[in-house]
Amino acid sequence: MKKNMKISIKNQSEIQKMRIAGKLASEVLEMIEPYVIPGVSTEELDRRCYEHIVNVQKAIPANVGYRGFQKTICSSINQVICHGIPDTNRILKEGDILNIDVTVIKDGWHGDTSKMYMVGKCQPHNQRLVKVTQECLYKAIEVVGPGAYLGDIGHAIQQHAESNYYSVVEDYCGHGIGNVYHEEPQILHYGKPGRGLEILEGMCFTIEPMINQGSKYCKTLQDGWTVETKDGRNSAQWEHTLAVTSNGVEVLTKRHEESI
Ligand code: MF3
Ligand code: CO
Ligand code: CO
Repeated sequence: MKKNMKISIKNQSEIQKMRIAGKLASEVLEMIEPYVIPGVSTEELDRRCYEHIVNVQKAIPANVGYRGFQKTICSSINQVICHGIPDTNRILKEGDILNIDVTVIKDGWHGDTSKMYMVGKCQPHNQRLVKVTQECLYKAIEVVGPGAYLGDIGHAIQQHAESNYYSVVEDYCGHGIGNVYHEEPQILHYGKPGRGLEILEGMCFTIEPMINQGSKYCKTLQDGWTVETKDGRNSAQWEHTLAVTSNGVEVLTKRHEESI
């Protein structure tokens, strides 16, 4: 185990604030859904999310200014794995698969979540990628609880992805979250049962598997942010922020469409 690894345990009043931030983040993904249509630019989606967070939610878009990132959402289309930058020139077209990833800060606490949107009618192979990736997230959430291990999470994801002939991106991972955006521990999306840290009540972290149709390898574009698959095939991602409870897990960023 890594030395000096400080994993914060949140108390009930802190988790209550995480619950509020998580709810707001989930509501951004719900609010934007009707605007995800062919012809819209990712910049326009970003602007709508920014205005909703700032003007309606009276909250802070955590990505703005984060390590020099300038936008509210990451908008990652097709072969983009993560950290796609919203742009007026990037116009959605029928058949695209899009991930929108947003983090909201409310009262100092963070909620981080992402989902896939299908733009109009998508090809069956893309529909299947999106669905299996969401199942990876759900299967991972199912194993979370006090007494489980971080390796159980990674194993659940890797097992489901690989049995569907997909690969798991290893270069990016989930993370502890709280009054800090990215904190210990790292949540790997691959692994072996029973390995790694034991999960304890009061831990809060994200699970955010990135699953590729082809190989697991990534490349970062010249803009310093956009991460694409090396082979140009498509990738999908879903993310939730979780709190470990006494007997399981609470999904802090659950949307109304979800029955988890
Ligand atoms: N929300 C991403 C995550 O899931 C991080 C985005 S950082 C940004 O951890 F700077 F690209 F916005
Ligand atoms: Co995120
Ligand atoms: Co995250």
